[in-house]
Amino acid sequence: MKNKLEQLAKRKEKALHGGGEHRIADQHRKGKLTARERVELLLDEGSFEEIGMLVTHRATDFGLEKQRIPGDGVVTGHGRINGREVFVYSQDFTVFGGSLSGTQAEKICKILDMAMKVGIPVIGLNDSGGARIQEGVVSLGGYADIFLRNTLASGVVPQISAIMGPCAGGAVYSPAITDFIYMVKNTSYMFVTGPNVVKTVTHEEVSSESLGGAETHASKSGVAHFACESEVECLDGIKRLLSFLPQNNQDDPPRVLCTDPAERRDERLNSIVPELSSKPYDMKEVVHAVVDDGDFYEVHREYAQNIVVGFARLGGRSVGIVANQPAVLAGVLDIEASVKAARFIRFCDAFNVPVITFEDVPGFLPGTDQEWRGIITNGAKLLYAYCEATVPKITVITRKAYGGAYCVMNSKHIRGDINFAWPTAEIAVMGPKGAVEIIFKKEIDAAEDKAAALDAKVQEYTEKFASPYIAAERGYVDDVIEPRDTRPKLIRALEMLETKVDRNPKRKHGNIPL
Ligand code: HXC
Repeated sequence: MKNKLEQLAKRKEKALHGGGEHRIADQHRKGKLTARERVELLLDEGSFEEIGMLVTHRATDFGLEKQRIPGDGVVTGHGRINGREVFVYSQDFTVFGGSLSGTQAEKICKILDMAMKVGIPVIGLNDSGGARIQEGVVSLGGYADIFLRNTLASGVVPQISAIMGPCAGGAVYSPAITDFIYMVKNTSYMFVTGPNVVKTVTHEEVSSESLGGAETHASKSGVAHFACESEVECLDGIKRLLSFLPQNNQDDPPRVLCTDPAERRDERLNSIVPELSSKPYDMKEVVHAVVDDGDFYEVHREYAQNIVVGFARLGGRSVGIVANQPAVLAGVLDIEASVKAARFIRFCDAFNVPVITFEDVPGFLPGTDQEWRGIITNGAKLLYAYCEATVPKITVITRKAYGGAYCVMNSKHIRGDINFAWPTAEIAVMGPKGAVEIIFKKEIDAAEDKAAALDAKVQEYTEKFASPYIAAERGYVDDVIEPRDTRPKLIRALEMLETKVDRNPKRKHGNIPL
């Protein structure tokens, strides 16, 4: 027995050292942690249970049979984050550059299959040179096996990807199918083809960082939801994100003890909307003032900043916040903002997170650029996402709710459960000046003093339509509330909606305008 135990210890010891000390030192020199160090930092101390530590590849080409490293370049298993179980896989760059062999793919698939059966989230820590070149199509097949499982797990268990090194070629599509992507500034990149291929094909000279680094994907492409300063910040971010989420789509998000009083009124909100309707203000201040302890975890912070999305709590319950941002482009809905919010709403709906909408939107962005790039199809994504969502949906119209955007931003007509408006709300087909110039064109043209006639009509229209009261009279808003009461009103509405059941018609799946 002693021999057998020694043999076991020896085998495990070997696996712990991955590709060897000099490659571990290389990894550290690049400012990166090893696969195991990342897992340790991510999970509650001592909670990691490894699966497949002794797995090796079976390939024999190009001398691979002489290089069998236990684990084969990925550390897989389960552990706890803040006491809640998760599955994790962490690619080990010290073993064949973390490249994906058929065997590595089998290990990742095993984790994904188990996560589906057990109903717990999967976190993938990616650091890989892509397909294991020596294994050829076996590796490609392994990727496809993973893509399929990511897709089947979508909307069943939360899937989170962290990019902590290279992620190139088709390998990018596994993270892309998952729910959230974290990247680390200066040490991670994602692209379909790297700078060399780009140079050959398009003659553009571009660095890896500029082509597909964290900042690029967090601000330009929107591929990454979070760009972190360090690996530690990245892993902490994942823990924070998970704290808002249920374990699976049958589960409710965790409820936490709330010490911030539900009845707390914030007087500042009564004066946050400027007198002048065209003047901006920061909608994030509204969000911070309303949610528990002002704690808001913003998603996609650098991307499409004219709309704000993220997680918070109200009375200890997780909520997804979607808020037009009048401080950026007047909060207009453009292609990027529509797609960003649509994806977020669909995530919330899949995982039973109620959606709270703060609305101040002048409409969809006009212009050839938007029309030619398809604001119609892309704006429809947002509309579709709101329409199909069956989670509790509450709206607060703080100021503008004009045109199609009124309908889109969780109006009553598309199953908004409780819709509040502040007295500063302006709910109409369009802004006063634009409206008057159309409907009173002839009258204004005929007037001796055109400017005075326009002003008078704008005044008349503003008094009649630029308010919440016509909508309130019709029941299109459920109540006009004092802004300072927003927090208690939202919490009461959420309590009432706790047992909400709503369903969509039975079908294979809808056809969201992609
Ligand atoms: C096998 C690989 C490998 C790979 C790296 N290594 N990538 N082994 N298959 N894909 C090995 C190296 O040989 C080296 O081994 C070790 O990993 C570290 O690599 P280095 O090159 O020394 O590291 P670094 O300088 O940091 O460069 C990292 C890198 C580079 C940029 C990722 O290694 C690289 O360009 N690799 C190839 C990337 C690639 O073209 N992959 C295929 C993409 S196509 P030793 O023994 O020297 O330590 C793809 C298709 C997926 O992935 C399709 C899915 C549908």
